[in-house]
Amino acid sequence: MTAEPTTRVIAADANAIGQAAHTLSAGGLVAFPTETVYGLGADATNATAIARLYAAKGRPDFNPLIAHVTDIETARTLAVFNSEAEKVAATFWPGPLTLVLRKTLMCPVAELATAGLDTIAVRVPNHPVARDILRALGGPIAAPSANRSGHVSPTTAAHVLADLRGRIELIVDGGPTSVGVESTIVACLDGRALLLRPGGLPRTELERVLGGALADAPEMRIDAEADAPIAPGMLASHYAPKAKLQLDARRVNAGEALLAFGPKLPPGAERAARVLNLSQRGDLVEAAANLFSHLRALDMPGVAKIAVMPVPHDGLGEAINDRLARAAAPRESAAHERDE
Ligand code: TXA
Ligand code: MG
Repeated sequence: MTAEPTTRVIAADANAIGQAAHTLSAGGLVAFPTETVYGLGADATNATAIARLYAAKGRPDFNPLIAHVTDIETARTLAVFNSEAEKVAATFWPGPLTLVLRKTLMCPVAELATAGLDTIAVRVPNHPVARDILRALGGPIAAPSANRSGHVSPTTAAHVLADLRGRIELIVDGGPTSVGVESTIVACLDGRALLLRPGGLPRTELERVLGGALADAPEMRIDAEADAPIAPGMLASHYAPKAKLQLDARRVNAGEALLAFGPKLPPGAERAARVLNLSQRGDLVEAAANLFSHLRALDMPGVAKIAVMPVPHDGLGEAINDRLARAAAPRESAAHERDE
């Protein structure tokens, strides 16, 4: 895939479905309609494609993405369903409902797509074009709304083109979307279900099936326009390694692991407990693709500190540095205590 693709818009016919699946499996970016809004899809298992997707959205951030799948059986390979999740999924899927659930151990979705979290957002959409593309690809598609970050979600192919022309390979035009607002997002984790984002599925319908009031999660509420949690510090939001992070490390001390960037390693690298390079050739898209999985791999028993080489601030570097800074921040003990 080239750095600056020509964006093709094609009508959603049988031929378009095959092209969309082919482009996705080659690591490309394809916008397609769901019944809520148009999504910007990438192969959810391909970390490089996911990194390109964040870059195409404009202000690069690694806000976790929704994994779209064909049916609940496939969703079960990605996520763990508790009884509340079972109930609402059985009733409302396919449809404008996204569930935030614990990730399965074998979940094939790239760490970058879930921003390194141990939870994952999953959705079974109810639009024939989205469903056909999912079936043709035969795997999960990670897709945020197909707008530049900070813009409103697109409900037509023309909206998508206005925002993303020259940044993605393909737009499959399936006409205006019917629901027009994003999916409702509900977290079904350990406790009771929480409403994270109001959306196309009304709260009252969920409450009817859950048999009681659906709790709001004000501290986790998602701002649909900003594409970000309203209080990002509070959301089970950032990946936090057990080891301490030493940012902008210019040397490595004994016993430390090294998260490298670029061809030249700092003094002391030879005594690192383990070295992983975000991108030996200094490529920020490659670095983003590796970020969360490398951090996890270096966060191993016996390693108290991970030395992180400086990463330039341009392009995806801004988001990489943001996530590194969050991972390095002291644990928010005050916030955790309030939950108990
Ligand atoms: O209707 C929709 O939901 C559209 C279509 C394309 O499916 N998608 C969409 O995605 O609106 P996006 O990325 O624009 O919004 C998804 C929201 C993000 O704000 C993200 O923070 C949140 O879902 N999210 C994703 N994974 C999460 C997780 N594990 N925990 C909490 N929030 C999560
Ligand atoms: Mg969005």
